Amino acid sequence: MPTVVSGIRSTGNLHLGNYFGAVKNFIEMQNEHSTYFFIADFHSLTTHPTPADLHINVKQVMAEYLACGIDPEKATIFVQSDVPEIPELYLLLNMNAYLGELERTTSFKDKARQQPDNVNAGLLTYPVLMAADIIIHKANLVPVGKDQEQNLEMARTFARRFNRMYNVETFPIPRPYTFEGKDMVKIPGLDGSGKMGKSEGNAIALAESPESIRKKVMRAVTDAGPTEDNQQKPEVIKNLFTLMEVVSTPDTVAHFETTYNNCSIRYGDLKKQLAEDIIIFTTPIRTKIEEIVKDQEYLSKVARIGAEKARASASKTLQEVREIIGFRKFY
Ligand code: TRP
Repeated sequence: MPTVVSGIRSTGNLHLGNYFGAVKNFIEMQNEHSTYFFIADFHSLTTHPTPADLHINVKQVMAEYLACGIDPEKATIFVQSDVPEIPELYLLLNMNAYLGELERTTSFKDKARQQPDNVNAGLLTYPVLMAADIIIHKANLVPVGKDQEQNLEMARTFARRFNRMYNVETFPIPRPYTFEGKDMVKIPGLDGSGKMGKSEGNAIALAESPESIRKKVMRAVTDAGPTEDNQQKPEVIKNLFTLMEVVSTPDTVAHFETTYNNCSIRYGDLKKQLAEDIIIFTTPIRTKIEEIVKDQEYLSKVARIGAEKARASASKTLQEVREIIGFRKFY
């Protein structure tokens, strides 16, 4: 059975785009693979969160994963910092990760541009830590979006390099599992810029309040309206329809399609309807998130069991790696 590993930075509250993208796939994968999903709280330190924020965010993301249907009985769901074997493997991999290749990574260059006063070594070695996350469980598959493809390519490089250096086959070379395309709906943002993303600032979070959802949807970019019957929709309008297709009933979509096609559409009505349908869609998830966040006992149980399972797998790999590198016990 192939092993799957994926992580999410603890700064990223899940939004609708994640829900119909990564999370939907995680839920499917947990049924037929050996899956490890974790909250990358070490990675979040590259942006210097306060201690209180760090903790609150980890808890929030954990609750969101669970509310969406990641099942701790099927998948191993854990917090990265609960597994000390990960930073140890990261240290070992760092010895064979070269400055040049790390500096050339697009995500490093982007971050260095975004936070010029905080170009720390953790940012530079971000892909090494990510590689450790993945190969410590001998993962075969990593579900990633486009933005993580280069990081995964580096993980493949580090795995191959280790195997070659010691002439072993310790690490499988992890393959990307891309879920974009196929039957996946790419959820657009509200600003007409394409994909919904937290860093793009155009996202609707699963935990977002109804008032905030209404405000954001009403502000969504539109155009002056169709002037000819059956006219092609420009990108910004197509985006609103795509969102509607995932949250509204087919009747609602058909109604607005008709009014668009005969030029009687009023975007204000469409947005009002869309906002209400998003609220209807997210409310059960939001309620569940809120319940789980309050349930300290459940969260601590899930985190403890996850940590135990993750550590069992991680320590096995690390022991093997230490032995291969030449660390032998004197006692
Ligand atoms: N870098 C990933 C992101 O920002 C998060 C991540 C950390 C990850 N470690 C990972 C993803 C290992 C997949 C596998 O989205």
